[in-house]
Amino acid sequence: MSTVLLEIRDHVAWITLNRPEALNAINAAMRAALPEAIRTAEADPDVRVLVLRGAGERAFCAGADIKEFAPVPSPAEYRQSRRNGAWIRAFDEARKPILASIRGICLGGGLEIALACDIRLAAEDARLGLPESGLGILTGVGGSQRLPRLVGLGWALDMMLTGEPLPATRAREIGLVTRVVPVAELEAVTATLAAQLAARPPTALAFAKEAARAAMDLPLREGLRLEGDLLTLLMNTEDRLEAAQAFREKRPPHFTGR
Ligand code: COA
Repeated sequence: MSTVLLEIRDHVAWITLNRPEALNAINAAMRAALPEAIRTAEADPDVRVLVLRGAGERAFCAGADIKEFAPVPSPAEYRQSRRNGAWIRAFDEARKPILASIRGICLGGGLEIALACDIRLAAEDARLGLPESGLGILTGVGGSQRLPRLVGLGWALDMMLTGEPLPATRAREIGLVTRVVPVAELEAVTATLAAQLAARPPTALAFAKEAARAAMDLPLREGLRLEGDLLTLLMNTEDRLEAAQAFREKRPPHFTGR
């Protein structure tokens, strides 16, 4: 059974972390399969939105597979495994929007995966945390950098130093997730949101994502220049003309990504 499932329907790629017996903990096989699934969906012209979720009813993902932790890895081996840690880059390189649909446990590397997504929605039973410091380690795939950028230094340090998971409603209060829904509605709400995004102009979404993400890295002057350049490119798209024409004709627009 594959550790990551990829199912494409109605322009949405549903990517499922699939080790429910281990609360979808990330083992070596999953580390290899997940970026491959992201890149496959990213390259498929039929796909407009990616959704990340966990199999089973208990977890999005309980983080790195602790049972695979080597007692004392040699520095050379560990350095190589850090290189392999570049798997999370598949998320950063994706132009298409990625939704994290989170129920239950979302800890450690699981939260880091969610942080690498663009929109996080959570079920009321979600618990999100970074327990690494209690294991004597640090986040390994960007959590210590993405979390403070998203929720500010105060909450990031609180979560990283205490390791205490936050319930979904608190996570929403601090901006860690943007939407919280009853458990029974998570899948339907995720599907509706994914369909909404899939119906919007793909290039405009890709550029919105590029501009907003760049804002985390760039000085304002450079960010404003990037925004202007991306907008200039969008002015030349068929989808922009289609949006205006559909508005005038009082009909729903049909976007092609051109
Ligand atoms: N790595 C490997 N296996 C894990 C795992 C992880 N990160 N998290 C859970 N599992 C496994 C458990 O070992 C157990 O399998 P087993 O019965 O074969 O041993 C199964 O998933 C269910 O977990 P269990 O601990 O029995 O559930 P629980 O409800 O009592 O506790 C957690 C849930 C999430 C609190 C607990 O599993 C936990 O603390 N996990 C580790 C989370 C963590 O520290 N992640 C960051 C790693 S850097």
